Amino acid sequence: MSQKIAGVKGMNDLLPGELGGEMAPVETWQHVERTARELFARFGYGEIRTPMVEDTALFVRSVGEETDIVGKEMYTFEDKAGRSLSLRPEGTAPAVRAYIEHSVANQEPLTRWYYIGPMFRYERMKTGRYRQFFQIGAEAIGSREAAQDVELMDMVVQLLEALGLKEVSLNLNSLGDDACRPVFQQKLVEHLTAHRAELCEDCQRRLESNPMRVLDCKNAKCQAVVQAAPDILQFLCEPCKAHFGDVRRKLDVLGVRYVINPRIVRGLDYYTRTTFEFIAAHPALGTASTVGGGGRYDKLLKSLGGPDLPAVGFGLGLDRLTLLLKEGGQKYAPPPDVFIAVADEGSADEAFKLASRLRREGLRVEFDTRGGSLKSQMKRADKTRARFALVLGQTERESGKGQLKPMAGGEPIPVALNEVAQTVRAAH
Ligand code: HAM
Repeated sequence: MSQKIAGVKGMNDLLPGELGGEMAPVETWQHVERTARELFARFGYGEIRTPMVEDTALFVRSVGEETDIVGKEMYTFEDKAGRSLSLRPEGTAPAVRAYIEHSVANQEPLTRWYYIGPMFRYERMKTGRYRQFFQIGAEAIGSREAAQDVELMDMVVQLLEALGLKEVSLNLNSLGDDACRPVFQQKLVEHLTAHRAELCEDCQRRLESNPMRVLDCKNAKCQAVVQAAPDILQFLCEPCKAHFGDVRRKLDVLGVRYVINPRIVRGLDYYTRTTFEFIAAHPALGTASTVGGGGRYDKLLKSLGGPDLPAVGFGLGLDRLTLLLKEGGQKYAPPPDVFIAVADEGSADEAFKLASRLRREGLRVEFDTRGGSLKSQMKRADKTRARFALVLGQTERESGKGQLKPMAGGEPIPVALNEVAQTVRAAH
């Protein structure tokens, strides 16, 4: 017997309709993507599509060697020429690489891009945390002003609103810059070292390699130590404090609600100043409740060999957004407008032609290519939740008239066979 081959663990199939398991139906994904594309265009963001694979060094030098993402979770392999390549674990570094490679700075002073696509991280899986997952991200390169940070946050807020996701809160922080963060870090390390024995194994290691990451460890014992840790916002230098103040003021100007959360340190090393996360209150996602995150990365372009330009961006987890919508019970697959049923063999071609014509005229039409009895076709019409069924037999062919039968019940609507599309539309 031939053995079945399963899909790769942590990587999901997205199926239409009700066929999928844990994942939201593909129509929900399409709805989110469509909504984002339409909205982001209103904000003046153009789409970029970069390869799924990049030089490993790109992520090591941007996301950071000491982060979990690069240290533990990257899919890295050698190609046939012995180059070290990695499946992208995130979208910011590739966007910046493309920006530098195409000398975009010489062509426009302010660049706004978005992307939608799969990312890869070898993570421990659970609901909302996968090894291939999808991000909708946006990056704005060239402005150091708070208005740019706030424009991006506003864009996320408007997307969540458009999707009807209300229970998501914006958590805001600033990580300072090279002038003030080292002072904070020193105080933090002093505090953590004094409580070293209380920290989890991972955090004892992080204390040496990446102490900021201890701040967002989920371990209860670490959280207790973190509770009493110094607060980064108390250590901001004057320019960083002013920038953070501007961000808050402009959020207020737009009426965007947020909470200050000094524990938002993010899992990537490139951030400076503003960082933020959008956290869902819904229990469906458990600890995978962060639907998006982002912030400024004013030093990244230069450190990757590009111009010394400031930038800010965000990434949203499409898997998580769609799970929230699925939980809300919303369905996005539109039912067929009309099911064309064949009453007798002699009408099959005529019905087939009618179905084709109605599709050309813009209707969603179901037609059972297997043929079969009228009864079995009507059963299928019911199952597809078509709005109307139209039976085509000899009488209809000869008279050029038929009836649109509302599948949800009600009086049939008489219709001329050459006016089906207009009649269906008018019946809305
Ligand atoms: P990130 O916080 O690593 O940021 O990822 C952004 C979002 O991707 C998360 O909030 C989460 O919703 C989703 N996500 C991350 N890992 C997984 C996973 N294993 N399974 C499902 N969803 C996941 C970034 O990647 C930055 N590039 C964001 C950014 C853009 N910062 C500036 N510009």
